[in-house]
Amino acid sequence: MTTATCSVNTTLRTHHCNELRPEHVGQQATLAGWVDSYRGHGGGLVFIDLRDRAGITQVVFDLEDASDRAILEAADKLRGEDVIRVSGHVRRRDGGPNPKLETGEIELVAEKLEVLNKAVGLPFQPTDSDNLPKEEIRLQRRYLDLRRPEMQRILRTRHEVAQSMRRYLDQRGFLEIETPILCKSTPEGARDFLVPSRLQPGEFYALPQSPQLFKQILMVAGADRYFQIARCFRDEDPRADRQAEFTQLDIEMSFIGVDDIVDMVSDLFRAIWRDVLGHEIGEIPTMSYAEAMTRYGSDRPDTRFGMELTDVSELAAKTDFKVFTGTVAEGGVVQAIVARGASEQLTRKITDGYAPFVQQFGLGGLPVVKLTDGAFTTGVAKFLEPIADDLKNKLGLKDGDVVFFGVGKEKIAQRGLGELRLKIAKDLGLIPEGMWNFLWVIDFPMIEWNEDEQRWDSLHHPFTAPKVEDIPMLESSPGDALSQAYDLVVNGSEIAGGSIRIHSPEVQSKVFSLLGISEREAEIKFGFLLNALRHGAPPHGGIAAGLDRVVMHLCGTENIRDVIAFPKTQTGADLMTEAPGEASDAQLAELHIRSTYVKED
Ligand code: AMO
Repeated sequence: MTTATCSVNTTLRTHHCNELRPEHVGQQATLAGWVDSYRGHGGGLVFIDLRDRAGITQVVFDLEDASDRAILEAADKLRGEDVIRVSGHVRRRDGGPNPKLETGEIELVAEKLEVLNKAVGLPFQPTDSDNLPKEEIRLQRRYLDLRRPEMQRILRTRHEVAQSMRRYLDQRGFLEIETPILCKSTPEGARDFLVPSRLQPGEFYALPQSPQLFKQILMVAGADRYFQIARCFRDEDPRADRQAEFTQLDIEMSFIGVDDIVDMVSDLFRAIWRDVLGHEIGEIPTMSYAEAMTRYGSDRPDTRFGMELTDVSELAAKTDFKVFTGTVAEGGVVQAIVARGASEQLTRKITDGYAPFVQQFGLGGLPVVKLTDGAFTTGVAKFLEPIADDLKNKLGLKDGDVVFFGVGKEKIAQRGLGELRLKIAKDLGLIPEGMWNFLWVIDFPMIEWNEDEQRWDSLHHPFTAPKVEDIPMLESSPGDALSQAYDLVVNGSEIAGGSIRIHSPEVQSKVFSLLGISEREAEIKFGFLLNALRHGAPPHGGIAAGLDRVVMHLCGTENIRDVIAFPKTQTGADLMTEAPGEASDAQLAELHIRSTYVKED
């Protein structure tokens, strides 16, 4: 029995608002809740739809049944969102059943009414879904917004997901263990939130970007299988699917390899989708990072539609178009994607607009051509004459197709076209509804070169193990070494990521030095982990799934704020409590802190 249907009998009520059925006819009942809607019919009759979390029951105030006229007068004054308690008897609905309500066959005939709280001056009526105000107002009065049935559905789904996760992991021997919120800086690569220490002047805690190091240490501590629904904090700008404060399902296991965790987590997600949606995901395919980048220009490909990337560098080098030939001569690439049969929909204005779009991802421009009556038209058509037939064959072109070229360094061309592919698919409505394309992406490189900072960065994090056979490459050609990392992607969104960890202090030191972390710095920052790795560390690995993102998918929303009860805005503000707020001078003095910020007028 779920919380939706179980009885919630208390001293204030006998049933919830979705509980009374024909078998209760003739019985006395007391309900409590919010006035969802009211209809006064004059002549001594008032109808109230009474709502609580479970549903709605119609309450009728009928002069013939009410003990005195005062009740009817009080009922007549009720307005949306007032909180009331009503006692009376259950009868079959006078006007015939209402098929829209689960309680639609009965009504409660009020004999007693208590107004528990009047709702005055509401900025909006949560039930009036056609007239909702902008999100800012809804976030200021989040409690009203959360009363909306849609938000109630999301809160419930989030609860069901968390319960499904806990049930699954408990049955497989995982221990739920909490890790600290006030801790030392953790290594996920984002900016930390800092908390000043009062007892240790001048020192700061960091809020955890993830429980990464604690869960590894729990494996060294012999916990064997750990999980936690953990709050994580990363001081980065929010996006549609990113909040500074978010929640992960965090998992770590000892004595495992990549296949163990991939199989277990696949099964966990099958259980969640089955429990929440009744949907069978089936087997989850696996794709290497290299293949994902080559075919989709993304390490989290959306495989619900085609429009894959094709490398046409060899042909492009045979043209007289300097942008193509120059790039290929310098070791760059020319890649193409084809919007099939879209030449009429993709007008000149639209294709021109795609150029600035891809520039955000580092491409210099966006050469484009259309195929009309067997010939290339518009854009760079005139340059393609020498390779026209070969290009048509290679890309399988037909009249009406539009070809976009990504020109530049391989990674930039892939990324730019990968993003454009998604944009075009959205613009043309090519993404099929109702599909769940899960995919494991594996075989990530250990590190990638950071052009701006001229150094190697971890692709995952510095504790990710290299593939055993690639360990020697860390010395000879570090950029080619692959890691034992894996990401779980659904419909083009990364919902989980993890890796087998390094459990040898020597390999860990080697990776630190590759990342430009000196021995001294490593000891200062991660000495506790290195010590643990020297004191009997089992081979171990794990993963973290973004709970908010999982719920977004299950609820079909693209706004992460919808799935968090009390989210932050774009500027990191909680509009309801008005956090962050100023601290008093006395508070700051206690923390040995002085603000250098000067308020602008
Ligand atoms: P990672 O940083 O990939 O890995 O995070 C794991 C998953 O958490 C979700 N996620 C977020 N969701 C909302 N807002 C954010 N700002 C945000 N950042 C991440 C994503 C992502 O896949 N310690 C490692 C995990 C491990 O190695 O076990 C980690 O945190 O869905």
